[in-house]
Amino acid sequence: IGRNYIHKESLSSTNDMAKELAYKVPDGTVIVAEEQTKGRGRMGRSWFSEKSSCILTSVILKPQIRPEKTVALTQVAALTVVKAIEEVCSVKTKIKWPNDIILNSKKVCGILTEMSSEIDVVNYIVIGIGINVNCTEFPDDLKEKATSLQLELEKPVDRKKLLASLLNNLEIYYKEYEEKGFESLRPLILENSITIGKEVRVIYTDREIRGQAIAIDKEGKLVIKTEKGEEIALLSGEVSVRGL
Ligand code: BTN
Repeated sequence: IGRNYIHKESLSSTNDMAKELAYKVPDGTVIVAEEQTKGRGRMGRSWFSEKSSCILTSVILKPQIRPEKTVALTQVAALTVVKAIEEVCSVKTKIKWPNDIILNSKKVCGILTEMSSEIDVVNYIVIGIGINVNCTEFPDDLKEKATSLQLELEKPVDRKKLLASLLNNLEIYYKEYEEKGFESLRPLILENSITIGKEVRVIYTDREIRGQAIAIDKEGKLVIKTEKGEEIALLSGEVSVRGL
């Protein structure tokens, strides 16, 4: 991962460029931008970033997997971010299922996975990772929910080191995922989860589901036990964790 490396001063979105290039570049191609003019988040939201102070990257992967396996791969990417931040900043962050990274109850990184697939096989996957590294100001509507590594650690973080560690760890975990499957990484993901054991509220399609998050299953789905005692496994959704 990262042997083919594209660095740009300014882009609309690294994910958009990755999707445009996906068929023309090798597996593991990495795109990095200093600035995004149309950074995208999950659920059609935009992604805020400050020029040259964040990590804005997209990785193009071409694994031989079924489309439904991508939810697990996203969590592998989240685990990678946790490891890289721990390695470089000596601080523990947590994964809010499926792929937000939380530090001191605020979001420090988001991941947007997009793919192109046939019915039973993935053509390519783009994993877009945005880490708030050294930004110090957020728009008012984000202040309560978002933070950066610099704000929490009270010192700037070396972006190059963090990116290198991110790509190294992604290579390691992605290989393990390809060779041994999600099952092999699931314990580590659970260990670093902020969601499991908590009361949650999930917006899933148009439904609201409340209950306790009790597990992440073999496929990476979040298992929720509702107040009625029913167990529901979710493939995606917007999760609010009580107390967060
Ligand atoms: C989210 O939490 O909603 C996901 C945010 C993902 C942001 C990253 S930044 C790099 C890549 N390019 C984008 O336009 N989005 C992702």
